[in-house]
Amino acid sequence: MLAGVFKVAALALAALPVDAFTVSRDTAPGNAACANLTASLESSTVKQPLSLAYASSRHDYWNAIQSSYTPSCVVYPESAKDVSTALMAIKGAGSRFAIKAAGHNPNTFFSSVDEGVLIDLNEMTEKTYDAFTNLGSYQPGGTFGDIYNYFDQYGRTVVGARLAGVGTGLALGGGLSYLSPQYGLACDSFRELEVVLPNGEIVTASPTENEDLFFVNRGGGGNAYGVVTKYTIQTRPSGTFYAGNLIYVLDLKDKVLEAIRDFTRYNTDPKASIIGTYEKILTPSLGDLDLDQAIIMFLVYDGPDAGNVFDNFTSIPHLLNTLGKKSYPEVVNMPTPLSTEISRGDNIFRVQVHGIDDDSYKTAFDAWDKWCEDNKGDYILSSLDFQPVPKSLTDASNSQNGGNAMQMPSGPWFWLNFLLSTPPLLPKARYDSIQASFRDMVNSVPNAEGLPLFINDAAADQDPLKTFSTYSRLQEIQAKYDPDDFFADYTGGWSFG
Ligand SMILES: Cc1cc2nc3c(=O)[nH]c(=O)nc-3n(C[C@H](O)[C@H](O)[C@H](O)COP(=O)(O)OP(=O)(O)OC[C@H]3O[C@@H](n4cnc5c(N)ncnc54)[C@H](O)[C@@H]3O)c2cc1C
Ligand SMILES: *[C@@H]1O[C@H](CO)[C@@H](O)[C@H](O)[C@H]1NC(C)=O
Ligand SMILES: *[C@@H]1O[C@H](CO)[C@@H](O)[C@H](O)[C@H]1NC(C)=O
Repeated sequence: MLAGVFKVAALALAALPVDAFTVSRDTAPGNAACANLTASLESSTVKQPLSLAYASSRHDYWNAIQSSYTPSCVVYPESAKDVSTALMAIKGAGSRFAIKAAGHNPNTFFSSVDEGVLIDLNEMTEKTYDAFTNLGSYQPGGTFGDIYNYFDQYGRTVVGARLAGVGTGLALGGGLSYLSPQYGLACDSFRELEVVLPNGEIVTASPTENEDLFFVNRGGGGNAYGVVTKYTIQTRPSGTFYAGNLIYVLDLKDKVLEAIRDFTRYNTDPKASIIGTYEKILTPSLGDLDLDQAIIMFLVYDGPDAGNVFDNFTSIPHLLNTLGKKSYPEVVNMPTPLSTEISRGDNIFRVQVHGIDDDSYKTAFDAWDKWCEDNKGDYILSSLDFQPVPKSLTDASNSQNGGNAMQMPSGPWFWLNFLLSTPPLLPKARYDSIQASFRDMVNSVPNAEGLPLFINDAAADQDPLKTFSTYSRLQEIQAKYDPDDFFADYTGGWSFG
């Protein structure tokens, strides 16, 4: 309890920009942990603030605001044993810490830390493939782009990110892929995990060993239950895809929205997958030239011939059509190579969940559209993505390992992702008021009852775990594996406060 209060106070303090500090931050625990690790690990594994590696780890966040924090040092474990040693030194010193895979979670202190130890998993990039069982494995470092490239040489792939630059933390939050309508979320393909527990012990989590730990790590959000150091997964066949983007003027929003809804409801071919994105940039409209807003559809078919499955989209007049045959590595670089890197900025996500039988998803669109028009100048980019969760996806999810930590209710429904990218270097008060206004807009449209919010698209204050029917079970498992609340109190991320 007390620890909880302390955490809130510490987070409130830490959220202030550095120049606003009137009391000096406590740098001693972080420095003590770093000194211990410099002595107890190979010297190459711990990097101090003036090194290039440290600078690169600190810079490499999709939400650029995370780069303003200064870790006491960065540790690059090369094994589960190193992770265990690091955690024990951190715990012994009473230091704050963060676990970082590819740094794409936009929430503050989820994979960033100020005056504490940053555990950067980037050196752990081993992968294996067994052609007899079709099982593969990957360690948590690197990006899904690297993982796809590795499995591509065997004509295989894994269920993972739709953009190459995103990291493996995605799978711990579920992981929505273009392949999900066929195979479920990324976490549904887990067959075994190696986990370093908050007490430093290295254990296996699988359907037969530590089954509860295996359960929470399939969509329960990661970093509350220990550190996953190896993922063993069912790989999937990968060949030629038929995929591309269609771009429309925003005036066609209703027609495209209807096509997205029809696709989500009626499409019966699980090899077909879509994302509908509505995008607005900072400039005002120039008369009839609506260059500040557009609709970009992502259409992906697992196979060289999509038949007529995308006809409802191609028949709407469009500005651009890039549909054609592509390899999987090309598919995850749409619309342009390095899409993830280009979009780095002062970014935050929010999420909603809606059914398809009422008009609430249209109400959500209208609220977002109005906010963007009323608040020109407050963002560089804002987008609203419609992500279908078809019935085939929830069926595929529930047929593996008894279903994931969400215990997904039967589709179809939509997860809506709201992105807000604010201008850089805003004064804190201005930044906060824009964020609050955007949050209120998203909160003004109620979510569907009984459906889970998607962890990977959620803002920290949305408490997505509370929307899971399994919440109390997850809470019990967290308490079992982290009885001292070491992770809950000393690192950010989803918690059970
Ligand atoms: C451009 C972009 C595209 C995206 N596309 C998709 C998509 O297609 N599908 C989808 O589902 N989501 C998508 N997301 C959301 C994404 O899944 C989340 O942001 C996710 O948290 C990113 O994982 P990461 O490894 O890159 O980030 P990180 O910020 O490094 O990690 C995310 C969280 O997981 C924890 N974590 C990471 N690795 C471990 C580990 N091994 N053990 C314990 N905890 C760990 C971290 O501490 C952190 O709290 C996208 C995000 C962005 C920015
Ligand atoms: C590092 O910390 C651990 C855990 O507190 C402790 O057992 C160990 O003796 C420390 N090592 C050094 C070199 O300080
Ligand atoms: C296309 O839309 C029509 C309704 O206009 C619907 O009947 C059909 O099932 C849709 N097809 C797909 C694949 O979305």
